[in-house]
Amino acid sequence: MKKAVPAVITKIRARQILDSRGIPTVEVDLHTNKGMYRASAPSGASTGMYEAVELRDGDKGKYLGKGVSKAVNIINDKISEALMGMDPQLQSQIDQAMIDLDKTDNKAELGANAMLAVSIAACKAGAAEKEAPLYKHISDLSGKSSTTLPVPAITVISGGKHAGNNLAVQEIMILPVGASNFEEAMQMGSETYHHLKAIISEKYGPSGCNVGDDGGFAPNISGISEGLDLVIEAIDRAGYNGRIKLAIDVAATDFCIGKKYDLDFKSPNKVGQNFKTGEDMIEMYSQLCTEYPVVSIEQPFDKDDWEHTKLFTALGLCQVVGDDLLMSNPKRIERAINEYTCNALLLKVNQVGTVTEAIEVVKQAKDANWGVMVSHRCGETDDSFIADLAVGLGAGQMKSGAPCRGERLAKYNQLLRIEEELGSEAVYAGENWRSP
Ligand code: PGA
Ligand code: ZN
Repeated sequence: MKKAVPAVITKIRARQILDSRGIPTVEVDLHTNKGMYRASAPSGASTGMYEAVELRDGDKGKYLGKGVSKAVNIINDKISEALMGMDPQLQSQIDQAMIDLDKTDNKAELGANAMLAVSIAACKAGAAEKEAPLYKHISDLSGKSSTTLPVPAITVISGGKHAGNNLAVQEIMILPVGASNFEEAMQMGSETYHHLKAIISEKYGPSGCNVGDDGGFAPNISGISEGLDLVIEAIDRAGYNGRIKLAIDVAATDFCIGKKYDLDFKSPNKVGQNFKTGEDMIEMYSQLCTEYPVVSIEQPFDKDDWEHTKLFTALGLCQVVGDDLLMSNPKRIERAINEYTCNALLLKVNQVGTVTEAIEVVKQAKDANWGVMVSHRCGETDDSFIADLAVGLGAGQMKSGAPCRGERLAKYNQLLRIEEELGSEAVYAGENWRSP
């Protein structure tokens, strides 16, 4: 009998493609003797000093300095040479080989965009070699046996840096926790989204239905309560009262001035500045949690405002998600766990840089009984990897924007396929979204 030859990495080729905002990003084709596996890196608007560095060319004459040809060349030369002949199933060894080659704390030498795209492509090749679905391979890599379909955190209204309206807060999301499975959750999300479109059109005219980066509607509303009222009305019209909860991503780092918060930061005709203190913001959030079914607030304060984040978390009013506060960085997560600063991790894989490290930070968060929300970035591609990641790690929550626009649906649609494939074994996180 002919013995099966184990797959090894035979070739890695990268190229520059464009993301959903029309900004260059890295795509990788990783070849083994069994096939070709493709992956690409996303990119965000809120990038900061604690996250792994995205390598960009800085040549202002091309793509306004945002080209990634250096990262592409690094993959085609250095990374390719280092990984040649390796077994794609050995994810941690592949990631470690890149980390050793990089030698920096923040992936500045090879670029987190280069490393992540290769890491994801290798993960896909590893799953194929094992003849296992990607989510199953990820679950094995993390040492878990069970998988869970996450509750989708669906963006319905966009603001902040993601939209051209005056709303300071970046996102209002709906969480169909009362659905009986993922497919029903998407149906509830999509129907509510379309009712919201009609309501916004009636109140603000059709231009209010133009969408932001993540596909959420961007009407010119003056504040968060006005947005929440619209969403509540849409949930009501759709008939899902009580079965859909609300979440907010404040992305407050973007409007923190010194130690205060400027909720008018995008308003062209501000009359005096409406600055709020950390205490004012706590008061505002507490009120929102009492008046609306808000169950999760992401990045309610500045990335370095540990003090107010902790004070708000201690009130126990909702899940408090650390985005810029943590930057998916294990040291910052450790500090937040020790100091009880927040109680959930927003996992942005490109802030970590490799699949292995993403698995580790999720374990770190889960060991602390935190919630975990796997997240897309505002600049996305059609790569659906995070859907498999969310299922494989049993994250319980996945945020991928609106039920609209291809790059957002690439992830939600992959979850529909996974649920179908798992059949009777599929478990939807539902009401257990914080601890599936
Ligand atoms: P970003 O947004 O990709 O612009 O960082 C996503 C988020 O803040 O959750
Ligand atoms: Zn965020």
